[in-house]
Parts: sequence; structure tokens; C-alpha cells
Amino acid sequence: MPLPMIVIGGTSSKMLAQDLAQELGAKFVQASVTRFPDGECYVRIEEETLDDEVIVVQNTHPDSNLIEMLLLQDAAAGLGARKITTVVPYFGYARQDMRFKQGEALSAKVMIDILGLNSQSLVTIDVHKPGILDWFDGETSNVHAAPCIGEFFAGHGVDLVLAPDEGALERAKEVARVIGADFDYLEKTRLSGEVVRMAPKNVDAKDKISLIVDDIISTGGTIEAAANQLKILGAKSVTAVCTHGLFTRNALERLRGCCGAVYSSNTIENEVSVISVAPQIARSLRGQ
Ligand code: R5P
Repeated sequence: MPLPMIVIGGTSSKMLAQDLAQELGAKFVQASVTRFPDGECYVRIEEETLDDEVIVVQNTHPDSNLIEMLLLQDAAAGLGARKITTVVPYFGYARQDMRFKQGEALSAKVMIDILGLNSQSLVTIDVHKPGILDWFDGETSNVHAAPCIGEFFAGHGVDLVLAPDEGALERAKEVARVIGADFDYLEKTRLSGEVVRMAPKNVDAKDKISLIVDDIISTGGTIEAAANQLKILGAKSVTAVCTHGLFTRNALERLRGCCGAVYSSNTIENEVSVISVAPQIARSLRGQ
């Protein structure tokens, strides 16, 4: 992929877009985004023309961010951008990747289709099901946050990286490899939207500085159950980290009661999003 020259940041991803521009040695342009009195979104990219390749960085969750993304793409196309690369740090609707019940919408495909109206290339970060990218008519890449998470914790004495369920094991393994720590996983059963049970499992956590790694923290139920299990197993300390920190309701407060510290990447910008995934996105855009 040739190196794009302009990075345009939407309101959800100001810091990440700036970081990415710096990583790529590209020009950063913050789009001007306001709301009309009725709530409709107004977008303007204050440039004369855009005859280069551009990268637009903006989440598609919640719905208001999706509309902003579509308008940003159109504004870039209207200024003459030759190639628009769409970077969606947190891709909304990725979990509805099939019609689970008759009559349901195939939401993930709808999102992919509309993002392709004005874009030739799509980049996601730890998207829930990477297979949905096959619906995009153009280049795609799903970037892993794990190397950036591993680099952030390297040298901080972490002994054990833990996945809260087997499905998250590859991510924990990747983080553990960068840190040089052991890895393992717990066995999770979801009892309700907010309540999760961890099956007793023989994980060697005694006296270990432990790091739980997941893709999403939403209600915090998963991490809370994993942290409690690690304490039962005698862990010395428990820290939690995720790619996408949704932190719904009082999730951060809830987690601060059971973890020494909580961090997330900056795919969703919040008070603990201290790990930038820009280096990994830049590597992917450079084709490395
Ligand atoms: C589930 O498949 C995901 O990997 C996360 O474990 C889940 O979304 C976390 O949700 P919560 O924080 O509400 O337990």
C-alpha cells in the first residue's frame, strides 16, 4: 500500500489520528464537526483540495459516530481525494455478523456496505469477527493491538498474562510473547448481560503479578470474575487491560474494586486509554 499523505481525525479519534499522522510522517487535519440544533451532524474538512490519498479515522459506535464517519468520507471524496482509507478503531455492530433468528438484520454487513460507498480500503483494530471484512469490496486489514499492549507492559515485572476465556487465548499469547511472560486462560460462562462465572481451573497464579487481557470491557463482569478467580488462586496482583474500553455504566469503578489498575488502548478515547495502537496501524498501512 503506498504511503497516504493526509490523516483526517473525526471527533471520536482525535488523539489516535494525530498519533497515526506522526507515525506515518503525514499531515494531520482535524475535521470541523458540529451539530445543528436538531442534532444532525455537520462536517467540514477545511482544505482547498485533497488530491492525495487520505486516511479517515473515526469510530462507528455509537450511531452518531457512524453518521459522522460517512459524512467525513463524503467530504474527503468531494475535495477530490483519490483514495480513501477508512480506519475504524472500534467497529460498531460487528457482533451481529449473522441472522441468528429469522427476520433479523445482518447489521455487520450493512455497516461494511455503507462504509464502502466512499472508501477503497478498510482498516479495523481487533474487530470482533475479522471474517466480516470479506464483505468489503477493496483492501482490508484487521490490526492487532496486542503488540502495543505488550510493549506498554514490557519491563514491568508481569509474570502471567491471562485470557478470561479460551477464545481470547491467542491475544494473551501475543501479549505474553512481547513481555516474556507465561500465559494461560480461564473458563468463562456468561450467566446474564452483566454476570459471568469462571469455572475453577488450575492456573499457576500463586504469588504472580498477573495481567488479564481481553478485546472489550463493557460492563466489566468478565474481568471482575477473572480477577476474583486469580485472587482465589493466590495472585500477588491483578491488572486488567483491553483493546476497546467501552466501560458501560459504572464499569471502571467496579473494576477498580477488584483490580490494582485498569488500562485500555486508545481505540475508544477515555480516562484510561493510555496505550496507542497508532504504531500497529502504521505498520499495517506500510504493509509491514
Ligand atoms: C466477549 O466475547 C468479549 O471478548 C468480552 O469478554 C466481553 O465483551 C466483555 O464484556 P463485559 O465487560 O460486559 O463482561
